[in-house]
Amino acid sequence: PCRILVMASGFGSNFQALIDATRPPAGELQNCRIVSLVVNRKGAHAIARADAAAIPWTYRNLIGGGFVRKGEADERAVADGRRRYDAALAAQILAAPAGERPELVVLAGWMHVFSTAFLKPIEEAGVRIINIHPALPREFDGANAIERAFDEFKAGRLTRTGIMAHYVIDEVDRGEPIIVQEVPWEGEELDAFKEKMHVHEHKLIVEATAKVVREILESRTSQKPSS
Ligand code: GAR
Repeated sequence: PCRILVMASGFGSNFQALIDATRPPAGELQNCRIVSLVVNRKGAHAIARADAAAIPWTYRNLIGGGFVRKGEADERAVADGRRRYDAALAAQILAAPAGERPELVVLAGWMHVFSTAFLKPIEEAGVRIINIHPALPREFDGANAIERAFDEFKAGRLTRTGIMAHYVIDEVDRGEPIIVQEVPWEGEELDAFKEKMHVHEHKLIVEATAKVVREILESRTSQKPSS
């Protein structure tokens, strides 16, 4: 199976969608194994989901893990702290024994923007990294994307937003899209609209992961010496 590591900061409903998809009978990701979960918030409900599915998890606190909060230090100290955190996390992931080392990292509601200190060693090791974001490319980057789109609906400036899965680069919610889906606003109130977005994103994260997994499995086959 293809080995996947998931990173989540909160509720973990996208993580759950991935877990469910690895299970028979319907699972689109039956050829995958979620080797572990990384969380950066102690209160993340994603932890309970990992426990229920017997998936090992690790908690790496941003603050104290080398990370410095904005406002507590100058910009350079913040950037240094981020880099230390990112480098340590990449090293931890890549130190896993061969059979446990992930081939794909999926950011499922991971509220931390990785710097090249994380991305470079991960990419050099041939590990792919993707993210799900509840907005269309180049719109509503960052946190609370659904709420910000909703404000635009209410102001009469927009009638649709969307969801995308994309490869991760060192800019928040940017990078080559894998799947993009528009979601129309049909006059719902915020809670109902959020719910609709989540239903769509749970499908989209599974589809995008399955697409990247197919590529990984194909490249594995083509790397094997023919005999
Ligand atoms: C999801 O809506 C995800 O798309 C979003 O965080 C939420 C996490 O929900 N991600 C971002 O905003 C990334 N910038 P979950 O914890 O229930 O999966």
